[in-house]
Amino acid sequence: MKKIAVVGTGYVGLVSGTCFAETGNYVTCVDIDKEKVKKLQNSIIPIYEPGLEVLFERNIKQGRLTFTTSLQEGIEGAEIIFLALPTPPGEDGSADLSYILNVASALGGMLKKYTVIVDKSTVPVGTAEKVRTRIAKDAKVEFDVVSNPEFLREGVALEDFMKPDRVVIGTSSARAEKIMNELYAPLVRQGNPIIVMDEKSAELTKYAANSFLATKITFMNEIANMCELVGADVDMVRKGVGTDSRIGKRFLFAGIGYGGSCFPKDVQALAKSANEVNYDFGILKAVMSKNEEQKKKIINRLKEHYNGNLKGKTFAMWGLAFKPYTDDIREAPALMNVSELLNEGAIINTYDPEAMDNVKGVFGDKINYCKDEYEAAKGADAILIMTEWPVFRTPDFDKLKEILKQPVIFDGRNLYSTSTMEEYGFTYYSIGRATVK
Ligand SMILES: NC(=O)c1ccc[n+]([C@@H]2O[C@H](COP(=O)([O-])OP(=O)(O)OC[C@H]3O[C@@H](n4cnc5c(N)ncnc54)[C@H](O)[C@@H]3O)[C@@H](O)[C@H]2O)c1
Repeated sequence: MKKIAVVGTGYVGLVSGTCFAETGNYVTCVDIDKEKVKKLQNSIIPIYEPGLEVLFERNIKQGRLTFTTSLQEGIEGAEIIFLALPTPPGEDGSADLSYILNVASALGGMLKKYTVIVDKSTVPVGTAEKVRTRIAKDAKVEFDVVSNPEFLREGVALEDFMKPDRVVIGTSSARAEKIMNELYAPLVRQGNPIIVMDEKSAELTKYAANSFLATKITFMNEIANMCELVGADVDMVRKGVGTDSRIGKRFLFAGIGYGGSCFPKDVQALAKSANEVNYDFGILKAVMSKNEEQKKKIINRLKEHYNGNLKGKTFAMWGLAFKPYTDDIREAPALMNVSELLNEGAIINTYDPEAMDNVKGVFGDKINYCKDEYEAAKGADAILIMTEWPVFRTPDFDKLKEILKQPVIFDGRNLYSTSTMEEYGFTYYSIGRATVK
């Protein structure tokens, strides 16, 4: 059992805090957002993450999980303090470290005994050193700063956290390493490794992983675009290459570009870090610009299909979140499409199982929010599929044909087979496959 503080109670902080409580630790989560903390104190989870509520409620009930807005109160008696704070892109694309460094400065004078301070946020190489310097300024006790990047995926965050493929710990302190090993031991009982390395390598590992995955997605999108030009089928190519164990089956689905709170900002931040050391990380520049192009895929198709005139057309937009099983809309390709469509004078009826409340905060009543996918489709000129929520995978196509103005689907996620669409008589545009007309 350890006493832990988690500073920053967002997607990462809340999941980490809850899971560490689940493994028997006493966790206090700190956040400056008063409304969020009030909700948490009233046992309300402010985000959507499948499975979180069971662990959340159990650990609150058993007194192992508490919430506060006070940093001083939150870290009282803590042996380990996690920093799970935002690192959004700054104006020049580099990671904005102000959240982390400000908390680090405040922590210095508050520490009363040896403490391990852990960078859980995704931060550029050299941040652990900066955090150490900030804390050291006012610290009167010994402490260590550890880099422990988080690899959880929203939507399956609980499973990822409780059974990680690996845990990366960046530290040169044997004392901190021992404490971190004890903390993570319950999560790696199946034998997945805790990989201990220096701080800089740990920091770079996280950017390397996310940038590699973004590159893999972008590469397949490029293959899909080639498929369209030469008459090949990207789903066949995907199966053909994915069965090669050196390549692997995952992250090979073509679509309308990557989004989310991590890939776009992390690729950008790594490119920026490379710049700072005069390294031309060319592949990342290509990934970023190609991804921006890919996000316009549906809007370009729509313009082609409607001869450039989208004014007054009604579109049923299925899905808003950047991926299924989350309400997170940060950098979601759907949002950029909404903006473009509104600029073109189109009308949008949308349905997303979890993300509509967040989107209301961005677009308000400029678009219409529906109770399900059929209400969105009713009277629409076409359906636009933005997120591969399972509920969209096997719709009642007969019903859709009846309620749509025209049987037209622009599928950004390749949910249906082209032969099914042909059978039902839809005009069907997808990514990297023949268009059905
Ligand atoms: N979301 C993911 O899937 C994911 C996965 C792995 C790593 N990460 C990384 O983890 C970090 C956090 O990401 P997130 O998605 O959890 O962010 P988030 O925006 O969901 O949460 C951050 C929280 O920190 C709080 N906060 C801001 N300033 C604070 C302060 N001074 N004191 C206390 N709380 C403060 C905010 O109110 C917010 O609740 C980022 O660096 C991100 O790149 C995110």
